[in-house]
Amino acid sequence: MDIFDQVNALMSEIQQFDTDNAEGLESFRIRFLGSKNIIKPLFSEIRNVPNDRKKEFGQKVNALKQAADEKFKSLQGQLKASSDSNIEIPDLSLPGIPVANGAFHPVRIIMDEVIDIFRRIGFDVAEDREVEEDWYNFTAMNTPEDHPARDMQDTFYVQNDPGRLLRTHTSSVQSRVMTTQKPPIRIIAPGRVYRNETVSARSHCQFHQVEGLYVAEGVSFADLKQTILYYAREMYGPDARIRLRPSYFPFTEPSAEVDVYWGLKDETDYRITKGTGWLEILGCGMVDPAVLNNCGIDPERYTGFAFGMGIERQAMLKYRIDDIRLFFENDKRFLSQFSAAK
Ligand code: PHE
Repeated sequence: MDIFDQVNALMSEIQQFDTDNAEGLESFRIRFLGSKNIIKPLFSEIRNVPNDRKKEFGQKVNALKQAADEKFKSLQGQLKASSDSNIEIPDLSLPGIPVANGAFHPVRIIMDEVIDIFRRIGFDVAEDREVEEDWYNFTAMNTPEDHPARDMQDTFYVQNDPGRLLRTHTSSVQSRVMTTQKPPIRIIAPGRVYRNETVSARSHCQFHQVEGLYVAEGVSFADLKQTILYYAREMYGPDARIRLRPSYFPFTEPSAEVDVYWGLKDETDYRITKGTGWLEILGCGMVDPAVLNNCGIDPERYTGFAFGMGIERQAMLKYRIDDIRLFFENDKRFLSQFSAAK
């Protein structure tokens, strides 16, 4: 084939070339534009061309190179455009994919509120174990074995270890703290407690309490009453009224149960207050000197008060929940309804 025919053949190859993918374009580039491309040697062929056609040949080879350049650029542009159009551009005006937020458990919300209220008047949080020794839960709390008051709190004992039990109240933290700290002591102890009770809408075998304890020189019943009144007003509003009814606990003397005035606005109020308008919120009293003694604190020098309240009960009042079992079922439809009040 004549050298001119070769150039013409290459020209039509370039003109007819087409590809829709990067590999095709790359082999075109290597053949016509790479370092060992097919056009390059043609430039040295010029010396074999007769003089009168040298100019024509030179122009043809230059045109060949230019055509290859242009073809490459235009195919490259086409490929880029088509790959760009494959990228899905999201519609930014659409609403986003919702992220499900967690919610606080209603027990946690009330417990945090109670803790916060007592923190503000100088109570520190104390926590201790749920699997407790009999001594801290009962004996130190002036409830020795055979004491009839043990019947007040049906107990889960650890199998094969009668000295160990699931604490029946957070009062066990009182003896834990008093045996390790010196007065003045001012703590609140939030936590879970267990009682061997039949599970029903009203009672459960596990629930939460917050315990309070203040031991120092000269602590009086008036201090107790004022502290409880402060709590009731913070929790139930500035107009909250309380009343103290004499009661009995082995570890306090005298003992009282505290009611808050709930009102009789509707039928539910009648039902939950048994028609009185008053609701019991906690048990309390002056720490029995025998308890101080058991824990190594001198009852001649120190006095103290203590109180204990149930958290589920207050959550049930606040959120108008009528079945305590709901707190422990972890049903998301139930749990997602609550958010911290403050
Ligand atoms: N521990 C008692 C209960 O669980 C409550 C209480 C605590 C009473 C502290 C008096 C003092 O019922």
